[in-house]
Amino acid sequence: MLQIKSLKKSYSQGSTEVKIYEDLNFHVKEASKVAIMGKSGSGKSTLLSLISGIIKPTSGDILLDGVSYKDMKEEQINDFRASNIGFVFQNFHLVSYLNALENVMLPAKVCGIKNPKEKAVELLESVGLGHRLDHLPSELSGGEKQRVAIARALIHNPKIILADEPSGNLDEDTGIAVMDKLFELISKNNTTLILVTHSKDVAARCEQTYSLNHGNLDKC
Ligand SMILES: Nc1ncnc2c1ncn2[C@@H]1O[C@H](COP(=O)(O)OP(=O)(O)O)[C@@H](O)[C@H]1O
Ligand SMILES: [Mg+2]
Repeated sequence: MLQIKSLKKSYSQGSTEVKIYEDLNFHVKEASKVAIMGKSGSGKSTLLSLISGIIKPTSGDILLDGVSYKDMKEEQINDFRASNIGFVFQNFHLVSYLNALENVMLPAKVCGIKNPKEKAVELLESVGLGHRLDHLPSELSGGEKQRVAIARALIHNPKIILADEPSGNLDEDTGIAVMDKLFELISKNNTTLILVTHSKDVAARCEQTYSLNHGNLDKC
């Protein structure tokens, strides 16, 4: 469902060119769970940003369900992302002035999904936060914030979830509980998952683990 073809990405830093990947090829099957590990600075977050279409590759192409990013204009790719991709970040990225329910409803509103409130309440209940609907992010613990973020990532039934070190800021027990919820919900919905993690235990929950080294994804 996800194909990465001859992907090249470099950043220019002043007069020098920082090469992240020169010829990256990768394939992810529908409904599979893939972990990506690798040293800090190896380009894991960059890869997720490329898959989400937030940044453009220097060359090469990405296809999601056969749809090539190459030919899409910025507006098209923004719409495509809003309907097909869900995100979970290490730092939660919740909107600080919206409560839990409003944060979860946000992507549904952008996509014009019917009954966003009902769906948001259902998802928040399924992550154990039915009693925290009107709490602001500042009134939630780290684990609760991440469970809100998971509910938000899933409300529009995305094809794929991109998770960047989702348990990286949580203590071990809270991280395990949050990952339990993420895996439970994506398995229920047959959502594809690409999960960046530094934890071998978290990676072991995925069907495949790859390590990003010197611009290549090596199977572990
Ligand atoms: N916008 C940018 N401009 C220049 N260099 C960048 C930019 N974003 C990331 N980099 C560099 O690209 C490399 C990979 O970054 P990143 O994808 O964030 O790595 P990781 O997530 O694996 O830690 C790093 O060396 C980083 O400094
Ligand atoms: Mg990163």
